[in-house]
Amino acid sequence: MFIDTHCHLNYQPLLKNAEAFLEEAYNNNVQKIICVATDIQNTLTAIKLADKYDFVYATAGFHPHDIKLAKNGWLEEIERLLQHDKVVAIGEIGIDFYRDYSPRELQLPFFTKQLELAKSLNIPVIIHNRNADNETRDIINKVDYYNSVLHCFGSNAEYAEEMIKNGLHISFTGNVTYGSKKTEKAVKAVPIEKLMLETDAPFLSPASKRGKTNVPANIPLIAEKIAELKEISIDEVELITTENAVRFFNL
Ligand code: NI
Repeated sequence: MFIDTHCHLNYQPLLKNAEAFLEEAYNNNVQKIICVATDIQNTLTAIKLADKYDFVYATAGFHPHDIKLAKNGWLEEIERLLQHDKVVAIGEIGIDFYRDYSPRELQLPFFTKQLELAKSLNIPVIIHNRNADNETRDIINKVDYYNSVLHCFGSNAEYAEEMIKNGLHISFTGNVTYGSKKTEKAVKAVPIEKLMLETDAPFLSPASKRGKTNVPANIPLIAEKIAELKEISIDEVELITTENAVRFFNL
């Protein structure tokens, strides 16, 4: 059994056909799925899906792209949603200096506050970091909480090694299939015991599905590429990354 640790089933076009995509995933041996939120509204949608389907879990959190729309009381609302028993992590939270959809001076405190909340509740964190390696590291160190996964890892191998030493996990998407030497080196640098799989569907289709909507059923394609890069069997990738996800998210 594989686990898709990061999928936006709460986004269109996945949401309107959620049942069909879940069935396709299940039949393709992807038998646990974490539906990741990016604002309050789609946290509620993720929870609805998790309530309806046994093997779907949810997260609660505010993505750096969306925080400019946050209303007063947002942090208390997230804290309340985290009490739901199918909500397994806070996320995705972090910093995005690539798209800069929200002002930088908002991104840093939103990330810090949500990471502090995770620390106070001792729950896992899904971190989004784009072009902000130093700021991400500084905030993690300042809050002094390391129970996190760096999702859709796109930084270099040295950064991966440093973050793993601090206790973080790393997850990869279809980004491992795009031929980036930097990402391939990072995959090789991450011990399999610290690695998890994710699609980030509907985004980032693996290279062989380019131009199509990404779906959770594509997880084995990512596992296959990781097995090839690490020169281990796909069965080993399946077994260990699933164990990692069960342990990390307490599934
Ligand atoms: Ni995502």
